[in-house]
Amino acid sequence: MRKYLMAGNWKMNKTIPEAIALSQQLCNYYNREWDKVDVVLCVPAIDIKSVHTVLDFDKTDIELGAQNVHQEPSGAYTGEISIPMIKDAGCTYCIVGHSERREYFGETDEDVNLKVKELVLNKVNAIVCVGESLNVRDSERHIEFVTAQVRAALAGLDVEDLDKVVVAYEPIWAIGTGRTATPEQAEEVCAAIRATIAGSFTQEAADSVRVLYGGSMNQGNVDSLLAMQDIDGGLVGGASLDANSFKQLIEAAAKAS
Ligand code: PGA
Repeated sequence: MRKYLMAGNWKMNKTIPEAIALSQQLCNYYNREWDKVDVVLCVPAIDIKSVHTVLDFDKTDIELGAQNVHQEPSGAYTGEISIPMIKDAGCTYCIVGHSERREYFGETDEDVNLKVKELVLNKVNAIVCVGESLNVRDSERHIEFVTAQVRAALAGLDVEDLDKVVVAYEPIWAIGTGRTATPEQAEEVCAAIRATIAGSFTQEAADSVRVLYGGSMNQGNVDSLLAMQDIDGGLVGGASLDANSFKQLIEAAAKAS
């Protein structure tokens, strides 16, 4: 049985006081029902320490994640942060290869693969993002495109490493647009991702890897998305920036568990 994972991706939002307020509100809402779900907040680098202090003080099981990392442990990479740094600051997760990083910062499949390999080596969970543009979707090459991204991201990993891997399917045309993929569209790709993992590794590993959906997930569509067999949670942008709306999504996942 795969446990649902609800990961908030705050992107470039929330100053330190705002981040403290939001994480504190979530801790106030936290109750034992939430233990049915893994909850992670992927916050801007500058907020990691403060949010960690809040989560640690409140002793909830809410976990902390970064949104990007450099693959080298240290060195002359101005502006970057390393895996030892995020780990030391309390992160147990890190998003890798978000479409915004691929599009605006030129991250390639090779970069994503290097980061994933280093994260699993350092025992930090990697949330590997994949997803097609509208052009690719319209030309009906989305399955081929996304499964190639998955193979590239996971190349060279051992089957045991998959314990530390989550894949998030985020069609670019659904991110921040209010246009969600239908549950059937999302399921088609999430099932293909799982089949790809079975092909590259083992069926058993594929059955335990969590595959998330991301792209305008909200209160109105969460139930139907989570009802799909191969969707194991969400990577949530906009709806994670407000404590009440993220709480509703976590509770929907707890209910569906
Ligand atoms: P959205 O973002 O929920 O605002 O569409 C999801 C994401 O980009 O991770």
